[in-house]
Amino acid sequence: MLDFLSSIAWWGWVLIALALVAIRDVFFQKKHTISHNYPIVGHLRYWLESIGPEMRQYFVANNREELPFNRIERGWIYASAKKENNYEGFGTDRDIYEHQHVFINNAMMPFKLPENHPNKIDKTFLPCAKVMGEYNKRKRPYRPASIINVSAMSFGSLSAKAIESLNKGVKIADAYHNTGEGGLSPYHSNGGDVVFHFGTGYFGVRTEDGGFSMEKMIKLVNDNPFIRAIEVKLSQGAKPGKGGVLPGAKITKQIAEIRGVEVGKDVLSPPNHKAFSNVPELVDFIESIAEATGLPVGIKAAIGKLEQWEELADIMLKTDKGPDFITVDGGEGGTGAAPPSFADHVSLPWVYGFSDLYKLFKSKGLSERIVFVASGKLGFPAKAAMAFAMGADCINVAREAMMSIGCIQAQICHTNRCPTGVATQSKWLQNGIDPTLKSIRLAQYFKTFRKELIEITHAAGYEHPCQFKMSDVEVNVDDHNLSKELSKTYQYEKTAVPFISMQSLKDCEHLGGAR
Ligand SMILES: Cc1cc2nc3c(=O)[nH]c(=O)nc-3n(C[C@H](O)[C@H](O)[C@H](O)COP(=O)(O)O)c2cc1C
Repeated sequence: MLDFLSSIAWWGWVLIALALVAIRDVFFQKKHTISHNYPIVGHLRYWLESIGPEMRQYFVANNREELPFNRIERGWIYASAKKENNYEGFGTDRDIYEHQHVFINNAMMPFKLPENHPNKIDKTFLPCAKVMGEYNKRKRPYRPASIINVSAMSFGSLSAKAIESLNKGVKIADAYHNTGEGGLSPYHSNGGDVVFHFGTGYFGVRTEDGGFSMEKMIKLVNDNPFIRAIEVKLSQGAKPGKGGVLPGAKITKQIAEIRGVEVGKDVLSPPNHKAFSNVPELVDFIESIAEATGLPVGIKAAIGKLEQWEELADIMLKTDKGPDFITVDGGEGGTGAAPPSFADHVSLPWVYGFSDLYKLFKSKGLSERIVFVASGKLGFPAKAAMAFAMGADCINVAREAMMSIGCIQAQICHTNRCPTGVATQSKWLQNGIDPTLKSIRLAQYFKTFRKELIEITHAAGYEHPCQFKMSDVEVNVDDHNLSKELSKTYQYEKTAVPFISMQSLKDCEHLGGAR
């Protein structure tokens, strides 16, 4: 027998293996019709389908056609993060006559920096022109020292090494780091300013029965003075109103400790908050946290219907209370995992949602009281300029920040198999990340972003992007004579932000939230 087996040539073994696969395909498997009908070759289809996205990304898709971020956008972030040449040669490769293309109106003569101007000393110095918590006289008001910051992404959706890189990076760039829903982890404590964020799961500030614990909130803020503000999540653009389950299998000892849940047991994030069930109760909840912690408190939401927002605005007018900041997330926003029906269809894209909300608050005379934070693919200087023209005061970036530390847009965050180690809990995959190097990459991306935004601002004749007006930006509707200024398209004028000079921002006692 052994003699017979050893006499079979290698190609004989290949034929035997193929014959066995063919027998299995035809007689013993019922799941795949293609493999049954086309034994052996049917497998090729599944394999080619599985590598299709990579093939298209590398070889087929043109520079401008991929979503969520095309190759030019990704390339600009990678080059900025590595401090490489991020210019393009030979002029734009975009069709600038295309529908919805954005134009920023430049001034005849750009803004001229006087001697000793803060931007002569530091070309990337660009703090927020408004102070969070100033109007409501919170004990610890906070002027973000950077207009670009890291958006909510939890430890759990991102790896420990990625969180550490982001936190060290915001420290270098003087920005803040939003924790996302997973609680405050040790990886958020590397010196950067932190905005503590929580949703309906109350992770990190959770009672045993899954409610909100004010006691834990106070302790957390007192133990971690680098927490500068608190954000209550009502919804996010990728899955507004959708609850979620954190499967027990993903709850390691460390995650359980940080989130305040049990090891190995499924945890529900319901669609609704337990701590409040209507708008007046939300306002009371915000006030009670601000009172207990002394910090500015804001809300994050994706925008759809406006009735409850109008109720909030009316309560704010009547009681002189309410959120210190509102983070408006666009429907195009990212997530670790969401059903396509939600990600594609529920809630308005940023431009539509923000303009609806801002217009509402402006009509009630409330726009000056609120710091408007904007997120939804806004991590590019020209897009940010448009957001500022519409009334945004700060930009939060999530996926752009991920890309600056190595994400390649593989779009498999939900599988725990992220090849770059950014969005996975696999120790092996995340070991490829060097947080010291990646933190510098994030900081360089943020600084390049700020420098280019300042340059665009100067080109438009201004000193700070808060001075952009709706009439400074136009959106193409096919011909210049038809293209409309933002104010005509969205039918409001932005409230002027009280800005004196960059020097006065530099001298502000609340810059960076000093205690
Ligand atoms: C991996 C990942 C995790 C996220 N986790 C949260 C979260 O915990 N809470 C939240 O409000 N938004 C979360 N988001 C949404 C982002 O904070 C942000 O609002 C959205 O992605 C839009 O910003 P971007 O276009 O710059 O990515 C997450 C996004 C990503 C990509």
